[in-house]
Amino acid sequence: MSKPVILTGDRTTGPLHLGHYIGSLKNRLAYQDTHEQFLLLADLQALTDNADNIDMVRHNVIEVALDYLAVGIDPAKTTICLQSHLPAIAELSMLYLNFVTVARLERNPTIKEEIRSRGFGRNIPAGFLCYPAAQAADITAFRATVVPVGEDQAPLIEQTNEIIRRINSSAKQPLLPEAKAIVPRMGRLPGIDGQAKMSKSGGNSISLSATPDQISVAVRSMFTDPGHLRVDDPGKVEGNVVFAFLDAFDTEQNEVEDLKNHYSRGGLGDAVIKNRLEQILQGLLAPIRKRRAELASNRDYVIEVIKAGTLKAKAVTGRTKQDIQKGLGMFRL
Ligand code: TRP
Repeated sequence: MSKPVILTGDRTTGPLHLGHYIGSLKNRLAYQDTHEQFLLLADLQALTDNADNIDMVRHNVIEVALDYLAVGIDPAKTTICLQSHLPAIAELSMLYLNFVTVARLERNPTIKEEIRSRGFGRNIPAGFLCYPAAQAADITAFRATVVPVGEDQAPLIEQTNEIIRRINSSAKQPLLPEAKAIVPRMGRLPGIDGQAKMSKSGGNSISLSATPDQISVAVRSMFTDPGHLRVDDPGKVEGNVVFAFLDAFDTEQNEVEDLKNHYSRGGLGDAVIKNRLEQILQGLLAPIRKRRAELASNRDYVIEVIKAGTLKAKAVTGRTKQDIQKGLGMFRL
């Protein structure tokens, strides 16, 4: 039996942070042995809202690859590949654009929210509006059936499956398998400022490469309960970022429950829960930081990993593209 295929990726717009770790990296680590896994450095998708910033997108190809390797993605088990060097993905993107309407693209909740938050107004880059079709190309080019992503990506997987169904019905045969999004049970990690989403652009993230000092400062500044003025006051757990982080990172969940009860009753200060969280995060990130620094000083190795992975991915995606063109009954030379 061949293993089920996983494809996920990240836009190469900045180093990854704890939100990525909880949202998808942890799942990807867990799947390395049980699945055939591909990780896409999505530099082309990064350009859909960064066409004026190609230097930044190029620079972050290595940064994201370093994050993958530093958290324990093993290139012997997981294939790391570069999107812009996989021509079959671009070809499939063009093909899929004929199987989706502009109205449907505009209705995609993820796209709608991103258009709003980026303030595009009427000036939406065409590539941006169409990136759900390109993401469908990413996923199907590998025939992936499992896609571990953050919660916000679920509508993109739904749209991928709509395109897959249209392709299959046009081909009158099950050419492509549908894909299933795997989202973390706890939902998304909030920003340290209490905003719903941690993001680098929002300035409310803790990156995987944060220094001990940066971690410390970030935890000290975390949003808790503004009404919790004195230690004896009852405090709110809901919306309290420190507890959201303890839920995500503390392995002693029974103790976290006790702390929540104590905090709600009153008598537990912010400093106590912040100290606990800081210790946990320092412990989690210290080995990642160390490994990342070692890898960063060996850039040639990282480039070799990406090159080898891209070569393998090129073969896989090229075959799928041919199968799809053939299955659809396109002209063949
Ligand atoms: N859209 C994803 C993000 O913004 C990145 C991505 C690109 C991706 N291609 C993908 C995710 C394919 C899953 C599958 O993080």
